[in-house]
Amino acid sequence: MTTDPLVVFTPSGKRGHFPVGTPILTAARQLGVDLDSVCGGRGICSKCQITPSYGEFPKHGVTVSEGALSEWNAVEQRYDDKRGLKPGRRLGCQASVQGDVVIDVPPESQVHRQVVRKAAAARAITMDPATRLYFVVVEEPDMHSPTGDLERLERALREQWDIEAVTADLTLMSKLQPVLRKGKWEVTVALHKGHKDSVARIVEIWPGLHEGGLYGLAIDLGSTTIAAHLTDLETGEVKASSGLMNPQIRFGEDLMSRVSYSMMNPGGDQEMTKAVREAINDLVTSIAEEAGIDASLIVETVFVCNPVMHHLLLGLDPVELGQAPFALATSESMSLPARDMDLTTMNPRAQVYILPCIAGHVGADCAAVALSEEPGKSQDLVLIVDVGTNAEILLGNTSRVLACSSPTGPAFEGAQISSGQRAAPGAIERIEIDPVTKEPRFRVIGSDKWSDEDGFDQEIATTGITGICGSGIIEAVAEMRIAGLLDEGGLIGSAEQTGTARCVPEGRTHAYLIHDASAEGGPRITVTQGDIRAIQLAKSALYAGARLLMDEMNVEKVDRVVLAGAFGAHISTKHAMVLGMIPDAPLEKVSSAGNAAGTGARIALCNIGSRAEIERVVREITKIETAIEPKFQDHFVAANAIPHKTDPFPELALVVTLPNPSFNTGGETEAGGGRRRRRRG
Ligand code: FES
Repeated sequence: MTTDPLVVFTPSGKRGHFPVGTPILTAARQLGVDLDSVCGGRGICSKCQITPSYGEFPKHGVTVSEGALSEWNAVEQRYDDKRGLKPGRRLGCQASVQGDVVIDVPPESQVHRQVVRKAAAARAITMDPATRLYFVVVEEPDMHSPTGDLERLERALREQWDIEAVTADLTLMSKLQPVLRKGKWEVTVALHKGHKDSVARIVEIWPGLHEGGLYGLAIDLGSTTIAAHLTDLETGEVKASSGLMNPQIRFGEDLMSRVSYSMMNPGGDQEMTKAVREAINDLVTSIAEEAGIDASLIVETVFVCNPVMHHLLLGLDPVELGQAPFALATSESMSLPARDMDLTTMNPRAQVYILPCIAGHVGADCAAVALSEEPGKSQDLVLIVDVGTNAEILLGNTSRVLACSSPTGPAFEGAQISSGQRAAPGAIERIEIDPVTKEPRFRVIGSDKWSDEDGFDQEIATTGITGICGSGIIEAVAEMRIAGLLDEGGLIGSAEQTGTARCVPEGRTHAYLIHDASAEGGPRITVTQGDIRAIQLAKSALYAGARLLMDEMNVEKVDRVVLAGAFGAHISTKHAMVLGMIPDAPLEKVSSAGNAAGTGARIALCNIGSRAEIERVVREITKIETAIEPKFQDHFVAANAIPHKTDPFPELALVVTLPNPSFNTGGETEAGGGRRRRRRG
């Protein structure tokens, strides 16, 4: 039996006996304990911090005495003087084993640390990025055994980090020699190794120990907006989030009109590719500025996007996506250098990973939602709806997962709505209509007060009341239905029929007046009959898509509903249900997942294993194509009524009673949604 001291690591519980004098970092490595190190034990990176514990540990069967670790040494003192070490902390590469000891590895010293996501129920992300930093000491050149600098760097990586082989492109080669000499043969390299790569690639090299950090971008490239999260690749922390409008809007609001633009205009696809790439380049510059980092420290970017955006980003003509059988150029994930896509404002050797697409109309954004929300691991049947210009819909449980996308159009984002606007300060985001007086009260973005509360006017003095955003229009239409201003078919009643002068004539139809500042030169905010029709179209497409998946699954109801999408986070679940956007479910079983596609992108950025996982999961998802499914049209027409013509909503009835007026006066005789041409977009 060994008399060597016992070392117990927490929280892993890993333990082993080591000879006196073994550095804690060495013991950790031999046991496979997750303890970080960039400098390879040279006492300069401070990544290996540990906390020894002293006293009795009956649970581990050890008593730790004061001298269990070697004395605090000069290297630790120097680090403490320069940067400061937290009380009780030691450097794992400097402290060595002298007796039985219990060592705690704090979260920030773990390579594979978990990043807790904001939503309480959401799973944590385990850090395991594709790009990492390594500090190495490289042998100096010697005339007697001539070797190249790259070969000696490669040997140093092999000997000091067990990295077998690396490659470097020409742009890196041109930096290699000056940097090695500047660093006096001590350098830090950022190595990128994708989950399918056999050889690591040198992305960047710095003289000495690089302490400026390493960053990646998770980008959700939508038809309407582009949202980016700048993420620290060592800690997983989101340093800045930023977004801008997709400049391709000028070529067409929805995806199909962009495909048509490409069909009608030779070179149109390239124009759109150029526009979106330029916007991403600008976004990279501005987000780096916002976070106060050098944009060249951004070494990786993960994209999630719908299939049309996927093709336009990659410079592929999306024309095949506009016609059956909707063939993608590739549905596989893509890994490529950012510069191949003219993304030039990040590191010149940055790598891009694009998640796989699910099908011709179900993109990498839906795959990202699946990665984030994991419907295939759900015991109960979950319907996940990512609400955007195109709704991505997933239905599944541990037995099977189905996916489709549905062309809702931009109405849910406040576009194509007469008083609609983007969610920005001044936009009405919440609204209530008194069922008796029919008077509205509302809240605007930028203030927590309702419009009938004291101090509201002062709070909104700078922003004003400018329009209605997506969540506001959903609440407005649902509230109008609850207050009896709107009948089941979606017609707005007249002042006489509804008993309120706020229902004003507008052409042959009516509009509901929410706010009128026209006397002072301000906006007059109304919900018009046209707005109701736009919302009906959008919600019918959403509902019909969900029903199609339920048909395929052979179920009449789902156990729970998750609303995703940046905008999904703001939708009131009750109002979504009143509108009939989603199938009936107990209200407490309807939750919001925030921007799930963006979260999926972040997971893929931070954890390389998740890339392999989603590529496998996507192959197992059953794709349903809404555009060619005849039943989609039937479901769509039936879903035009608010909440629905034939489907019962018993759970909703427990929460709210919907009045049943009929305003059919011949002005507009049927739900307009059925007469309009649906467009995918
Ligand atoms: S491993 Fe770098 S300071 Fe210990």
